[in-house]
Amino acid sequence: MTSSIAESRKALEARARGLVFPKGFVFGAATAAYQIEGAHDLDGKSESIWDRFCRKPGVITDASSGEVACDHYHLWREDIAVMKRLGLDAYRFSIAWTRVLPEGTGTPNAKGIAFYDRLIDGLLEAGIEPYLTLYHWDLPQMLQDRGGWYNRETAEHFATYASMIARAFGDRVKQWTTLNEPWTFCWSGHATGEDAPGLHDGTKGGVTASHHALLGHGLAVPAVRAEVPDASVGIVFDLNLVEPASPDPRDVAAARRFDGAQNRWFLDAVFKGIYPEDMLALYGPLLPDIRPGDNAIIAAPVDYLGVNIYRRSVIAEGGELAPLNYRRVRPEGVYSAVDYEIWPRCIYDVLHYVHANYQPRRILISENGVATAPETVTADGRVWDDQRALYYVDHLEQVAKAAADGVPVEGYFAWTLMDNFEWAYGYTTPFGITHVDLATQERRIKYSGEVYAQIANEARSAA
Ligand code: NOJ
Repeated sequence: MTSSIAESRKALEARARGLVFPKGFVFGAATAAYQIEGAHDLDGKSESIWDRFCRKPGVITDASSGEVACDHYHLWREDIAVMKRLGLDAYRFSIAWTRVLPEGTGTPNAKGIAFYDRLIDGLLEAGIEPYLTLYHWDLPQMLQDRGGWYNRETAEHFATYASMIARAFGDRVKQWTTLNEPWTFCWSGHATGEDAPGLHDGTKGGVTASHHALLGHGLAVPAVRAEVPDASVGIVFDLNLVEPASPDPRDVAAARRFDGAQNRWFLDAVFKGIYPEDMLALYGPLLPDIRPGDNAIIAAPVDYLGVNIYRRSVIAEGGELAPLNYRRVRPEGVYSAVDYEIWPRCIYDVLHYVHANYQPRRILISENGVATAPETVTADGRVWDDQRALYYVDHLEQVAKAAADGVPVEGYFAWTLMDNFEWAYGYTTPFGITHVDLATQERRIKYSGEVYAQIANEARSAA
């Protein structure tokens, strides 16, 4: 190692040590069932839309799937040990609906429930708080066969599933998330088709799925509360800091439409009980059947907002998705392996944006992280992901700054605990703070994980 690399690592570690967080700030890491569990057809699990989608030729960069993934279904004990070594306060994971309720509705699968029982008990024994997400994109295929998120009944099935899960785990799990990133799974799944179920139905598809998903959220919130009175229940949105590419009024209007589609549509619905007027007018005849009372259901009070944030979006007029007519431009800068601009300030600005406009009681950064090319273990047995370590320090610095300004941001979850199946990118763009050797399933904490652990430890001892 050259002395300049050693020096820059030292400097980074010193910056990491200097970060100050509010007392009780939660440091965690996140995953999702389909991305890590594997065991896709074991112990009564049924097929999900992602199991089906991955079998379509050409949709996954490396033609892979989550069939085996990190085999977390069998290696969960080891994964909890990794979390312990990282000194995590909390672990955010999702339940595979297909494992616990294989038909999407109806009879629970005892073996599926037993898996999450073991995981939750193991986490609690290790002193790690479970943060449970009910839906991270893996809808039972049997429900897709009945229309999936196009079918209003899916919202009701989701609430029934939520209630069943709350009954099963609510004695031990107090942190509940209904949906993960409805913008992404509704639009990439139904409008543009890059994600499961792979439909290319344009704006009508995205908006219809999103209304039913939000209804499902609104029905699930009281369903969880009914079973777990002391639950903290929230939703996770993927928010973007949206900026127009130029002062040209056409770009400004396109940026406003994109902000409306990705951010305001969801935030206004949940926190204000109405969809934004400009977006209702824009979508017009493409809107689904929004019935009297739907808005009130969707606006069921939540305890927190989870924010997944990865980038800013610089937007110009154009693109193919009518009537949104936006396209991303690519300012000069540093880009990750999934071509997201690395721009740490976005996390600070988005925290202020949601606090100023929506005042959620609590905010969690429920995901933040960076993709790189696959890494190798060096001769010293380490994985030196310097770019990722820098990313975490830069972004956590912005979170600390927002907290110091008085934004009620109370926790941060690194995406992701370990290298895993990155949806349409397969295994080509790992995001983990722990390296996973796909051939041997060996886990190895990366340099970024060590730096992250150091930040969390310092924050705890300073508190
Ligand atoms: C957000 C999603 O919730 C997660 O599943 C995904 O892997 C990350 N973004 C990175 O793309």
